[in-house]
Amino acid sequence: MIKRLFVVFSVLVVASLLLTACGGAAAQKEIKIAILAPLSGAVPTFGVSTRDGALLAIDEWNAKGGVLGMKIVPVVADSQCAADPAVNAANKVIDQDKVGYIIGEVCSSASIPISEIVNAKNVLQISPTSTNANVTLTADGAVKPYTFRACFIDPFQGTVGAKFALTDLQAKKAFVLYDQGNDYTRGLAEAFEAAFTAGGGEIVGKETYTGQDTDFSAILAKVAEAKPDIVYLPDYYNVVNLVTAQAKEKGITAPFLGGDGWDSADLDRTAADGGYFTNHYSEQDTRPIVQSWLKTYGEKYKDADGKPIVPDALATLAYDAANLLIASIEKAGVDDPSKVKDAMAALKWEGVSGTITFDANHNPIKSAVILQVKDGKVVYVTSVAP
Ligand code: PHE
Repeated sequence: MIKRLFVVFSVLVVASLLLTACGGAAAQKEIKIAILAPLSGAVPTFGVSTRDGALLAIDEWNAKGGVLGMKIVPVVADSQCAADPAVNAANKVIDQDKVGYIIGEVCSSASIPISEIVNAKNVLQISPTSTNANVTLTADGAVKPYTFRACFIDPFQGTVGAKFALTDLQAKKAFVLYDQGNDYTRGLAEAFEAAFTAGGGEIVGKETYTGQDTDFSAILAKVAEAKPDIVYLPDYYNVVNLVTAQAKEKGITAPFLGGDGWDSADLDRTAADGGYFTNHYSEQDTRPIVQSWLKTYGEKYKDADGKPIVPDALATLAYDAANLLIASIEKAGVDDPSKVKDAMAALKWEGVSGTITFDANHNPIKSAVILQVKDGKVVYVTSVAP
């Protein structure tokens, strides 16, 4: 009897050892990372750049053997720069594809609802480019443990824009136009207004519109009447194209000033000519890391004529965000988002967009650049440190 029990016991021990060996970490061959980006909808250049930048980083890690001995498998989903499709995409990659890590979204109004899902499901999120302060903070100001970003935030970006308007452009009177229903444009407009008035400037008018509007003549008539020195328009390129074209038709000559949302190959450089915008990076930056990034990206991605594509801020920050995430997985030493988030909080990473360390709110402290749309090109004007 005792002997038989011993045999049964030994069989169980061997079986459980075998199970551990087969089902344990050593046997895991793949790790999935989702990329949630607006591939369709109003701002598709944001999505394509973001996907391509992140995929390039993943390819580079895989070429060196992956991470922790696992091949990295990207799962790309179209989240359309809007809350509902973003929520659907996040639930799909988490529940069906079983990802533990999300790179995305681009747009703050999409990243905020995604952040609620990931923090409920213990999935780690890093947004490459969502700048609204509430992406990483709850309504009562607590930091969301599973949400990080690779970019600066709008209170900084709006202040940089306001100081540039006051000091460099010598503007005293500003008119502010923004989309009331969009977290990004509303937050950036507020930050600009606060900094512009604190610096001695005057807001001579403020008008809102919705994301569906295409005719801006009524509010542009008010702009013409108020005769501002500058018009602040912190929206995405699709809206900027319409508003600046209609402003030129109306004979408005005050320069427009905007934010990172202007950054697109599809920005209408004729309509927006003479305008300025704050952004995360410039390809005219001479740091060697930027120059080698331009080369790598251009070798991999070509336009319809076979010419190398110059990576924009979206592609660059998606590349940085993917590297930050994978480096954090490596540092954590385990495929477990709850451990990887702690590794990320303590990481220091040399990114293309600058050296990144996170503050207590999971925001990197980084410089901004100011660019000008001039004669069909986007040219570097200056950099502003925090
Ligand atoms: N910062 C924008 C947002 O939060 C997104 C964006 C970043 C767009 C960079 C263009 C370039 O919605």
